[in-house]
Amino acid sequence: MKIAVLPGDGIGPEIVAQAVKVLNALNLSISMTEAPIGGAGYEAAGDPLPDATLQLAKEADAVLLGAVGDWKYDKLERHLRPERGLLRIRKELNLFANLRPALLYPELANASTLKPEVVSGLDIMIVRELTGDIYFGQPRGISTLPNGEREGINTMRYCESEIRRIGRVAFDIAMKRRKNNQKAKVCSVDKANVLETTELWRQVIIELSAEYPEVELSHMYVDNAAMQLIRAPKQFDVMVTGNIFGDILSDEASMLTGSIGMLPSASLDANNKGMYEPSHGSAPDIAGKDIANPLATILSASMMLRYTFSDETNALKIEDAVKKALALGYRTADIVTDGCKKVGCSEMGDAVVAALN
Ligand SMILES: NC(=O)c1ccc[n+]([C@@H]2O[C@H](COP(=O)([O-])OP(=O)(O)OC[C@H]3O[C@@H](n4cnc5c(N)ncnc54)[C@H](O)[C@@H]3O)[C@@H](O)[C@H]2O)c1
Repeated sequence: MKIAVLPGDGIGPEIVAQAVKVLNALNLSISMTEAPIGGAGYEAAGDPLPDATLQLAKEADAVLLGAVGDWKYDKLERHLRPERGLLRIRKELNLFANLRPALLYPELANASTLKPEVVSGLDIMIVRELTGDIYFGQPRGISTLPNGEREGINTMRYCESEIRRIGRVAFDIAMKRRKNNQKAKVCSVDKANVLETTELWRQVIIELSAEYPEVELSHMYVDNAAMQLIRAPKQFDVMVTGNIFGDILSDEASMLTGSIGMLPSASLDANNKGMYEPSHGSAPDIAGKDIANPLATILSASMMLRYTFSDETNALKIEDAVKKALALGYRTADIVTDGCKKVGCSEMGDAVVAALN
């Protein structure tokens, strides 16, 4: 197993080090090689995605990424900014399917800002399309109109095959998640009443659903979905949506779980090669202080074992160790409550390693 390890910026190096520690503790036959991306890539090679980093990522079976970005790069030309490195690597590796589970650990029910009865037992999988939509559509840019006024343009677009392949990922995952003979459920989120792109999205998802008679398909407009996620989140099982809606809804869902520091993610290509990263950003405000929550990154490593390496046993081992560390009361600052043991980033990594055994 070859893993490219790309720590990135801000808290990236701190949290990735904890995930690497956990993977090493499992004594798997893996080789891990580190390379810079984002601001670190710009510093090292004048490019947020240096050629050598992209090459390493292409040759690896999976990529473990921290996060990219820092406000100090905000003044760089757009193509040199850290986030471009991230968008480009997703595109270059053809990682079109982003899986973001929002799962509430019972120990953290009080860390959510929602009432425990609304969120306890929450287990949602948000499937977000990652390589299309308004983030990539052309034309785009800022230009000056003849009257001297500036105009900004982005283009929302999806073609049928892009919608079908992400839909398929969502239906397949729903089938796998089916528990105790319950009906598998997919909720497709769009804005088909206003946007033609998502009118097509809905048509294609409906066509595809004919291949999955076991799955109950529903549709929801994105504004309602944003509301329902807060009002009654447990109504959802798998949600599937486009890039921009998924970006926003998955961050919203993260707060149901108490902290964005708890949410892992996987981005997969058609052959289950994947890039695994926490859902949060580089948190420059707390970088270098050893206080970030590394659990989202550690849980991303667990997703890597499950989805790319089909190693369910060790994936579960990591998840159980995280649960155990939480049950023992270990908490980083973002999830700490009265009576718990507040620990730093590396101490939390150590607690998970200790819980593996
Ligand atoms: N995938 C990515 O790499 C990614 C995603 C989002 C934002 N960013 C970049 O990150 C930088 C900061 O963006 P932002 O502040 O909007 O989002 P952010 O996710 O970095 O931080 C939002 C808030 O959550 C906190 N937080 C985030 N991760 C945490 C963790 N593991 N433990 C504890 N607290 C945590 C931060 O301290 C901050 O208060 C920007 O440069 C942005 O472009 C990168």
